[in-house]
Parts: sequence; structure tokens; C-alpha cells
Amino acid sequence: MVKMTFHGHSCWEIQGSSHRVLIDPFLTGNELADVGPGVFDKLDGIIITHGHGDHIGDGVEIAKKTGALVVSNFEIANYFGEKGCTSHPLHIGGGAGFPFGHVKLTIAHHGSTGPGGESLGSPAGVVLTIDGKKIYHAGDTGLFLDMKLIAEMNGPLDAALLPIGDNFTMGIADAVKAAEFVDAKVTIPMHYKTFPYIEVDPNEFIEKVNAGGRKAVLIGPGESYELA
Ligand code: NI
Ligand code: MN
Repeated sequence: MVKMTFHGHSCWEIQGSSHRVLIDPFLTGNELADVGPGVFDKLDGIIITHGHGDHIGDGVEIAKKTGALVVSNFEIANYFGEKGCTSHPLHIGGGAGFPFGHVKLTIAHHGSTGPGGESLGSPAGVVLTIDGKKIYHAGDTGLFLDMKLIAEMNGPLDAALLPIGDNFTMGIADAVKAAEFVDAKVTIPMHYKTFPYIEVDPNEFIEKVNAGGRKAVLIGPGESYELA
């Protein structure tokens, strides 16, 4: 069984039978996060989708404390390496296996500047395979037709984590279409309500995806969903 716990915004903790991975650990500064960076003791991997502060978040602090391997694009992997973290560089379309599972980076249409305004390569989505379960975390992105290709080449996907907040990423209408393209067994919305710019009602997304015959569930900060 794989347990996915939402920590607000785009931060997900993925717990397999023997390994734990964190994606986009933005906790400090997020009033909606249910935990702070200090709660993580044992962690095997940290995956960062792109350089923006609401995705790199507390990554350096958590990586240093736990010794978790940071997996991201080449530029972000170097950024963490320069700060004394252990990292592994990937880039779009490439994947690699790790003790905790397999990570592949997909395209995402967005930006990826770092905290100091430096360029941190291309933004990405992620297909994480852990204990045989395949999870697509779309990162920050607009809608794109190649989501169909991501599903075809990496699927069937057990879960899709999609941004729905509009303004910086897909809004609800486009994210509903993305859920259709990706066609995962369950779709869960993220990247909404954290800031005034992305104040949307996730229930509208859930209802529209469900109305299309697919399963979508709302998982609040601190709540989990289990892939059985
Ligand atoms: Ni972003
Ligand atoms: Mn973001």
C-alpha cells in the first residue's frame, strides 16, 4: 500500500512499504500547511518540480537534516548540491531508479527561477513509481495535449495530482480536461487557496471530474489517500 499525505499547496508525502518521499516541500510561509519542516526525521527522497519558492520551499533544510536525496532537474540538483545537499540530476523525459522508487521528469509549461531570481532550468512534472504504484504530480503547468502521451507512455496511472488554482497554472476548466487526458484512477487537486491569486473552490473541480465519469477526491492538508 502507498499512502499519499497532503501537506498543503503542492506538497505531498508519499509513504511506501519501506521508503518515504516528499514532493515540493513548501511549509514555512504556508499558513495552510499542517506541519512544519521539523517533523521530518526519516526521509529517503525529496523531489522538486521547479525552482519557485512555493516548490523548493524548505527543501534545503529538510534535505540536510534527513540526508534525503534531492531529485530534480540538472540546474536545481546543482543548486541543492552547492548548498551541501546530496542530489541527483535528471532532465525532461529522463528517469532513473532509486532505492525508494523510480522518478521520471515530464514537461510542464511554466517558469523555474530560483529564490534569488537565478534560472533553474525547465519546470517539470513528475511520474513517481513507488511499490508499483504510479503517481503523476504535474508540478505547476498550463494544460497541454501531451498529457495524453504522458499517460500512454507511463500509465496506467494510479493517481494524478493536478494544480487547479488558475492565475499561475491551469484553472478548473483546463484542469478538468487535464484529468480526462491523464485518466488516472484517482485525481486530486492541489495549488489552490494558498494565496489570494489562486482562490478557487476545489469542490467545483471534484464535481466536474466526477460528472465526467472519473474519480476525483478532495484531500485537505493533513489528510491522506491510500493507493491499495
Ligand atoms: Ni511555480
Ligand atoms: Mn507554484
